[in-house]
Amino acid sequence: MLSTEMESALNEQINAEDYSSYLYESMGNYFEHIGFRGFANWFRAQAEEEHAHARKIVDFVNARGARVLLKAIKAPKTDWKDPVEVFEDVVAHEEKVTRLINDLSSKAAEENDHATHTFLEWFITEQVEEEANANDALNRVKMAEGAPGAMLFLDQEFGQRGNTATPAE
Ligand code: FEO
Repeated sequence: MLSTEMESALNEQINAEDYSSYLYESMGNYFEHIGFRGFANWFRAQAEEEHAHARKIVDFVNARGARVLLKAIKAPKTDWKDPVEVFEDVVAHEEKVTRLINDLSSKAAEENDHATHTFLEWFITEQVEEEANANDALNRVKMAEGAPGAMLFLDQEFGQRGNTATPAE
């Protein structure tokens, strides 16, 4: 069973993952507004993936017989200076999520909660990929900055992304 503190910490992480989903939805709408439908599509897929992360924790908390208590999701930022600034925010956000996951994992270890510790391994591995993808995207957008043809090419490429949301196992 989960300790009260771990139950509360996992509920916080559910909220953080759903906030990530909301933030990426907002970034997608920014790109839609400035005419980059491919980037908008990429962020929509990313938003779905974040909600799947939240769901995965929801299923775990329920499976351990604890309570999922959903809280309000704070409003995300809605405007950016340019595409580079959006991806800088993505990198910073994913680094923050990695810190949250690491803190949760440390907490599970301190509590001798092996089940939660093992469950969080999936998220630790996922964050390596999330940070790598975010940094890669930022570098590519920086390279294309100021060259409309290159930006349109990237927009098309980002538009190829399907919904990669991982179903909660
Ligand atoms: Fe669920 Fe992008 O971390």
